This record gives sequence, structure tokens and C-alpha cells, in this order.
Amino acid sequence: MTVYSERLSLPLGRPLYFGGDYNPEQWSRDVWQQDVEMMVEAAVNLVTLGVFSWSRLQSAPGKFDFGWMDEIFELLSSNGIMVDLATATASPPPWLVHAHPEILPRDFSGRTLSFGSRQSYCPNSRPYRDAAAELVHALAQRYGSHSALEMWHINNEYGCHVTSCYCDVCEVAFREWLVKRYVDIAGLNFAWGTTFWSQIYTDWNQVTPPRIAPTFSNPTQQLDYARFSSDSLLDCLLEERAILREVTPQIPVTTNFMGFFKGVDQFKWAEALDFCAVDNYPDPASPTSSLISGAVGDLTRSVGQGRPWILMEQAPSAVNWREINAPKAPGQNRALSMSSIARGANGVMYFQWRAAKAGAEKFHSAMVPHSGRNSRVWRETVRLGNDLKALGSLGSSQTLVDVAILFDWDNWWAIELDSHPSTKLSYPLGILDLYRSFARAGRVVDFVHPGSDLSRYKVVVAANLYLVKEDASCAFVEYVQNGGVGVVTYFSGIVDENDHVYLGGYPGLWRELLGIEIEEFSPLAIGESVSLKGEFLQLHGGSGQQWSDSINLVGAEVLVSFGSGRLEGMPAITKNAFGSGKAYYVSTSLDPDTWGLVLTDALSGHEEIAIRPTSEDVEIINRGNLVFIINHGLKTNLSLEGDWIDVLTKCEVSGELSLEQYDVYVLYRLIRE
Ligand code: GAL
Ligand code: ZN
Repeated sequence: MTVYSERLSLPLGRPLYFGGDYNPEQWSRDVWQQDVEMMVEAAVNLVTLGVFSWSRLQSAPGKFDFGWMDEIFELLSSNGIMVDLATATASPPPWLVHAHPEILPRDFSGRTLSFGSRQSYCPNSRPYRDAAAELVHALAQRYGSHSALEMWHINNEYGCHVTSCYCDVCEVAFREWLVKRYVDIAGLNFAWGTTFWSQIYTDWNQVTPPRIAPTFSNPTQQLDYARFSSDSLLDCLLEERAILREVTPQIPVTTNFMGFFKGVDQFKWAEALDFCAVDNYPDPASPTSSLISGAVGDLTRSVGQGRPWILMEQAPSAVNWREINAPKAPGQNRALSMSSIARGANGVMYFQWRAAKAGAEKFHSAMVPHSGRNSRVWRETVRLGNDLKALGSLGSSQTLVDVAILFDWDNWWAIELDSHPSTKLSYPLGILDLYRSFARAGRVVDFVHPGSDLSRYKVVVAANLYLVKEDASCAFVEYVQNGGVGVVTYFSGIVDENDHVYLGGYPGLWRELLGIEIEEFSPLAIGESVSLKGEFLQLHGGSGQQWSDSINLVGAEVLVSFGSGRLEGMPAITKNAFGSGKAYYVSTSLDPDTWGLVLTDALSGHEEIAIRPTSEDVEIINRGNLVFIINHGLKTNLSLEGDWIDVLTKCEVSGELSLEQYDVYVLYRLIRE
């Protein structure tokens, strides 16, 4: 991995950040005045400026107009509001695209994506990168020493809309990337397995991106293109970062990730950032909104190696880009925001401050809605801002975590390739099933990159981890050997980093660990469900979907068998003592209750968590010496042992706590003399 210069951190002494994307260029000066007054009322202390302002900041090469931004900087700073300054490079202006139409990206079928929406650039385009560099340099020179400048927000949501470009410039860049990876063409031929289907290359110039083809493109070529595309976007970020480091070495940099977004390998990218930030837009109408939101928070903390992060964007209420856009329920946004804080965020921001009057996002909610002050959303904005103010500074206090799910973008790209036993496997959805079961057991999860040190976790799960490098596979075996508890789910441990199968029975390097050998996969049809049986299930039965395996036992004990289907009577869940630890294998997509039993068994012998949630929708999260209790579901009760203070209301609480939907408590324990 690239070694970057020393990392700065998110300023840790600050109160929690609160604010949003601010687009004053869309409004007249009298509105600006009203804006800052309302910001003060809502305890806003940070705004993101300039995300899509390139065409307003620059009208020709070398021709900048910073006047309006100068004024805004002064207005904000004189009201105690800090600036997260975007580099404004996410959407090139018309004059640039007109002068260099080759900037426009091309999709995999060769179509050029034209100008007129946003983010229309090829990441490898030199004219784009040079123009971006000129702008970034000018912004850094102009605002680098302004006291209101708190952090840099490089570009915006890298990879959103255009994840991969397939133009001729990218073709050349791809070859250069491949030469670095494989050195000579023989290396590429080996890795891509080109003896298959007559693909042996004799010259680098014959190698192309995996554009539209008669049928499946070479899988390793596709995998490498996903890696290359993530790296191409990362190169854009690194070029901007180099300029910012040179001109403003003391200002931390970030960019806003998109949670479970496939295009960008966040573990690699997080190395280049001083702290991580994420945009989180769960569908408020979905029953899984709090679950997904929690998982996004955990992922962001995890890719940043536990460092505090910022929730950079969320919607105060509805978005405008789903087919049907439900508003958030009263209190829902506060509950989701507090869950982010509990999971390690040091700031809660929105898209956006004031709802736009024109353009493609005019029906997206904002902290200040079209209806203005006289609105529920505004009142909730003020309330949340003042709640966060009451929490003060959380510094680098850590969220308590003792279980982990291995997570890897390389695997995501590989497992969802075509030409597999089943193309119906969704990596994030599989992970989410498991995440839900951990959440039901009251556990916050770390997502850990395979190969990392696992010794601090009680249980580590390799879920649908189809691609595993040899060293990462050894690290997992070693973890169990030394007393850890490993859980492996179906279609894991199948191929190496070149997408070549580990031979001799699946899962190649983990057969001994698991005490099993898989001869054949037996994926299930869409909607097909097989029953499960075994005393382990107690009375509840149980079912599996999506997958099953023909398992031969080589030492493992059977916990659960298939009760119906092609593999009736064969093992479905196994357990194996290995070294001083134990390893489970789960060969199908389990119903939540069965998952619960497996995790309870896996966690047995480890001390209970302090307060147990009474419902799936109640989150109880420890961060530093605070306990966050958040109810996303219907009214329920919770009993507390000992005496507590609620930081939000400054009131004492003890005994039975009645939780209305979306109630939030932030408690710390009172130690009586
Ligand atoms: C994000 C983007 C914002 C805004 C928002 C709307 O993807 O960064 O600029 O478009 O979505 O939900
Ligand atoms: Zn391109």
C-alpha cells in the first residue's frame, strides 16, 4: 500500500460539528443574512461550501471570481461558523467541456455521456485533472490561511454516477496500471488465465478494458478493471491532496464516501485521508433504514481504523432521487443522527442547508425547507443542533466493539462477477443479514480488512468471502488457532487474488480449520427455501435460502442438517475445534433466529453485555463513558441497573425506562459516594 506523509486528524477538541452543504451562490445577499441568523439559531458551526461551484468560481482558464466567496467566508466567520471547503472539482463547467470534449466519460458500450447533469468527466483525462489542479491551487492560495477554514472536502462522492470510464484514454491508463502490476505480458497472461478461450496476449497494445463483448469477459480482466477504476479515482484525489498538502499543510483533508458503494475501495482510500466522512441516505420508508444506517456508520469508523469520522451528508427528510420519496417521520432523523454519533461520528451534517428553488434537487429536503421557519423540519433542525451542542466534545472517545465481519472490496468485485454458480448473490445484502443478527444480539460490529490483526475480537465472521489472499487466509486461521472464534459462510475461501480456484475441495485453505470438505455447490432457486433440522435449533425449526453445499465431514461436528431439498439429511451448519479456538461453517443463508442461535453459541463463554436491548429496533451503544439508547421502533421498555444522568436533559434516570418511538437517551453512570 502507498505510504502517505504523516496524517493529520479531525480537530479533536471541537464540539460536535453540525451543519450542511451551503450553496449561497444560488441566492441573493439578503438571503445570506437570514441564513447566518438561522444558522446561529440552529447551533450550526460548520458548513460545506463550494461542492458544485466550479462554474461560478471560474469562467475561463485563469479567470476566477472569488468575490462572493470572500464575502461568505467573512459573514460565516464573524458568526462563529467554520468552513469545510470543497475543492469544487466534482462537476467541470461547460466552458471546459466545450474546449475539451474528450473529458466526457464513455460507458462500457462505447456511448459518450454528454454534458448537462453533473460529474461528467473521465478520471484519467489530463485536461480535466490539469484544470482541477489549477482550481484547487487557486482556492488553497486564497483561503488557506483564513481562520474559518476548518477542513478540505476534496471533490464529492467519488465514483457516484460514473464509477468506471471505458474511453481510449482509460484504455492506455489501464495498460500502464497492468504493467505496474504484472511487469511483463507473461505475468498478465498467467493472472488472467488467458489460455482459456484463446486469449493469450503477445503485446500490451492488444489489451483493452472489458467493454461490451459477445459473452462473459475474462473474469480477472473485469476484476482488474474494478481495481483500476478505484485507483484512477484515487489518483484524482491524490493529485488534489498533494496541492493542498503543499499550500495548506496544517488543514486536514477528507472526501465523502457513500457507505456500501461498490466502486471505491475505502480501506485503501482511507489511508490517504486525515479522517473519513460519509453520506448516508437510508430509505426512511424501509423497515431496515436504521439497520443500514448503523452498518454504514460502523463501516466508516472501521475503514478509518477507529478514528472519529463525520456524517457529511444525510437528508433532513425526503430525498428526490428514488422513484417514490417518503419523508422521514418526526424524530426519525434525530434518532439516526444520534446513532451515528454513538458509532464514532464527531459531526452530523446534511445535504443541504436551504432547499433550492431551481434545478434537479429542488424537491430534496433541506434544513431550511421551502416553507421556511414554519415547518417541522426546521424545528427538528434546531432541536438536533442544540442537542449536539449539549453533548459538547467527544474527542477521540471510542465505540465499544468486540465482534467483526471481514470486509473486502476485492471480494465484492470478484464474488458478484458473472459466470458463477449463482449470480443472485449480493455481497452487501448477505453482510446485512448477518449484521442484523449481531444487532439483535446487541452488538456493534467492526468491518475488518482481511489480513488485519484480529486478536481483539471475540468472534470474527468471514461471510461470502469468496476471494481470499493466502496471507489473509493464514491470519484468520492463526486467529482461531490462538483461541478466537471464527465463523465462515457459504462461497468463502474459494479463489486467490487472481480469481484462481484453490484446488482439492472447497474451501481451499480453510478445510482443516473447518474440518469439512465441499465437493459441490448446490445453489437454490429464487424464492426456494429449505428446512433445517437438529437439536441445536431447539424448538424453532429454521430455514435456509439461496445456497447449499455438499459437505463431507473431516473432523467437524454437525450442528444442523438440511431437512428438505436436494441435500436433505446432509450437514448445513458445522462446528470444529481448532487449536485453542473453534470454527463454524454455515452453508446457507440463514433465517434470523437460526443466525441468533449460531451467534449465541459462538459468543458463549464471553461476558454478557451490560444492558440488553429488548427489541430489535432498540440500539444500545457504548462510546467512551456514554451509553446511547435509541429506539427506532415502537414503544417499549428497558430496565436500567444503577443510576444514570441523561446528558441531553441533565435529568437523573433509573429503573424502568419507557421508550417511545425515536426516543434517544445519552446516559452516563452516576457513581454514588
Ligand atoms: C449526494 C450528493 C449531494 C446531493 C445529495 C442528494 O449524492 O453528494 O450533492 O446530490 O446526494 O441526496
Ligand atoms: Zn476515460
